[in-house]
Amino acid sequence: MLRINNLEEYHRAYERSVQDPEGFWADIASSFRWQRPWDQVVDWNFTEPNIKWFDGAQLNITENCLDRHLANHGEKTAIIWEPNNPDEEVRRLTYRQLHEQVCQFSNVLKKNGARKGDRICIYLPMVPEAVIAMLACARIGAIHSVVFAGFSAQSLSDRIQDSECCMVITSDGAFRGNKELPIKEIVDQALEVCPSVKTVILLERTGSNVRLVAGRDKLWKDEMEKVDANCPAEIMNSEDMLFILYTSGSTGKPKGVVHTCGGYMVYTAYSFQNVFQPKSDDIYWCTADVGWITGHSYIVYGPLLSGATNVLFEGIPTWPDAGRFWQTIDKHRVSIFYTAPTAIRSLEAAGLDFVTPYLLDSLRILGTVGEPINEEAWHWYHQHIGKGKCPIVDTWWQTETGGILISPLAGITPLKPSYATLPLPGVQPLLVDADGKEITGNGVEGNLCIRYPWPSIIRTTYGDHERCRINYFATYAGRYFTGDGCKRDEQGYYRITGRVDDVMNVSGHRIGTAEVEDAINQHPDIVESAVVGYPHTIKGQGIYAYVICTNELADNDLLREEIKAVVSRVIGPIAKPDKIQIVRGLPKTRSGKIMRRILRKVAEGDVDNLGDTSTLLDPTVVEEIKKGA
Ligand code: WTA
Repeated sequence: MLRINNLEEYHRAYERSVQDPEGFWADIASSFRWQRPWDQVVDWNFTEPNIKWFDGAQLNITENCLDRHLANHGEKTAIIWEPNNPDEEVRRLTYRQLHEQVCQFSNVLKKNGARKGDRICIYLPMVPEAVIAMLACARIGAIHSVVFAGFSAQSLSDRIQDSECCMVITSDGAFRGNKELPIKEIVDQALEVCPSVKTVILLERTGSNVRLVAGRDKLWKDEMEKVDANCPAEIMNSEDMLFILYTSGSTGKPKGVVHTCGGYMVYTAYSFQNVFQPKSDDIYWCTADVGWITGHSYIVYGPLLSGATNVLFEGIPTWPDAGRFWQTIDKHRVSIFYTAPTAIRSLEAAGLDFVTPYLLDSLRILGTVGEPINEEAWHWYHQHIGKGKCPIVDTWWQTETGGILISPLAGITPLKPSYATLPLPGVQPLLVDADGKEITGNGVEGNLCIRYPWPSIIRTTYGDHERCRINYFATYAGRYFTGDGCKRDEQGYYRITGRVDDVMNVSGHRIGTAEVEDAINQHPDIVESAVVGYPHTIKGQGIYAYVICTNELADNDLLREEIKAVVSRVIGPIAKPDKIQIVRGLPKTRSGKIMRRILRKVAEGDVDNLGDTSTLLDPTVVEEIKKGA
C-alpha cells in the first residue's frame, strides 16, 4: 500500500498519478489479495458512462478485510462496540472472531436461499451484527443495500422495491438515547408492499415483543446454531456489484448508487490510510451510521481492510448527556476521531462543562465529514477537543465518490480552517463556470468537477443507467459533476461552499427538496409546496417550506404540526421542515417555473436583495411572501 509520509512525497505521488495513472493505481492495487490479476487497470469513458477498474481480476473483499489479517493479527481487536447505554457491557471482537461470525452468518444467508447477485436489505441499528451482515453478503457475493434505521416504512419499501431485495436483515427494536424505536414494526409495514422479500432474519436487540411471520421470519440466533463457520469466499470479478446505497438527488426519489468490488476496495483502503495515517496501535472511531456512505467506507471497509481497531457506537452524542463523545474517547483511549460538523456545533452549544471533565489526551488526529465546517466550529474542535495539537482532516467526498477525494493528509498537509485543502493523488478536480468552461488559475470559484476516474467512482444508478448519466456526466460533457460549488484560493487549496443544485444538506444528511415537497403534498389540505434550504447555526442547513393550502384554515399551528408528521411518516424525522410558511401563491415565471432563488433569499432573511423579479408572472406574490416571512 502506498503510504505518503511527507509533503514532498505527496507532491511526487500526485505528479505520478496524473502522468501515469495506470502505473500509479496498479502499484497500489498490488498490495491486496487477488485470486486472479487484472487484464487492464482502467477502461473508461464519461459519455455513456462506462468505467471499469481492474477488469478481469478476481477477488473477494472480505478475504482482504478478514482472512488476510488472521495469520499475523488474528487476535487484534477489530471492533469495540460501545452500546447506547454506557452502563451496558462493551463488546469486543477480534479479527478472528469477526471472521468466524461473518463466515457463519454467510452460511445462514446461503441456507436461506441467498445467492451471488441477490440483493439483501439491511435495516439494523449500530450493532456489530450490522457489520457482520454486510460482510457476510459480500462474502457470498450478494449485494447489500443498507437502509439507515431512521427512515420510515415508506422509504424502506421504496428502496427494497427498487432493487427487488430477496431478504431483509433487521432487529426487534433499536435503542437511541432514551428512546426505543420499533424497527420490526416498520419492516412489517414496509413488507406489505414488497413481494420480492421471502425471508427476514431478526436480531434480538431490545428484547421487545415482536410478531413473527411464520415461514418468513427467522431468528438470527436460531439460524446461527444450524450452520458451521466454514465458508470459503465467493470469487467475484472486480466489476461485480458490491453494494447499492440510496441517496437523494435534485429530482425524484432517492437513487441507488452502485459500487463494485475491486475499485472500491482499493480506494477505501488507500484513502483511509493516507488521510488518517493510522498506526498499528491506534484506536479509530468514526461516529457515522453504517446506513450512510461514511459508515460503509470508513467504519466497515476502509478500516477493516487496513487491519485497524474500530469503535462502533450505538448511541447518540447527547445522551445521557452532551459529554458522551468525550467520555467514550477517554473510555476507549480513542486516538483518531472522525465526526460531522453538525455534531461539533451542537456539542459546542451545549457548553464546555461537558468537555472539561474529560482528559482527551489519547487523541492524535481529528476529522470531519459531510458538510462544510465553519471556521468557528473548526477552532472550537481544534482547541477544546484536539487541545491545539491534533490536525483536523476536513474530508470532502460523496456517496457517489465512494471515498474521500479532497482532504488534508493528517500531519502532512498544512491546514487551513474550513478548507478541504488538496486532492488525494489520483484525483483530478477542476472548476467550471455555468457554461462548462474550465476556470483555470487560483483565487477563483466555480462548480466542482472531476476530470479523470478514480477506482471507487459510481458505476451506475441501480436499474437506471440513464439517470446516472444525466445526473453526473451530462451537465458538463466529459466531466464528472459533483453538484457542489467550490473555491480555489491563491495557494490552490479547495474550499467546498455547498450544493449548487436542489439538494439540501441538513445535519450532514442529504435531502432532496423535491422529496420533501412530494411528502408535504400528501397532506390533504396542501395544494402545492416549495422547499428550500436556509442557513441554520447547528444543522448547517435547515428546511424551509412554503405551502399553499386548499382554503383558509382556522389553526395554522396545527397544520404545521400535521405537515411535519406527514414528512416524518413518508421520509423520516430527519426530513421534517424547520419552518413552514403558509402562502397564497409561489413566485413563478411565465412558463410556470418556481423561482427558488427568491424563496432562498426570503428564507435567509435577505428580503431586500431579491434581484431581478421582472420575469415573474405575478410580482405581488413576492410582496406577500416577504411580509409573511
Ligand atoms: C457535502 C457524505 C463540505 C457536499 C460523505 C457533498 C461536504 C455532499 C464535505 C455529499 C466537506 C461532504 N466539506 N461539504 N468536507 N463532505 N460534503 O453523499 O455537498 O451524504 O456533495 O456523502 O455532502 O453527501 P453524502
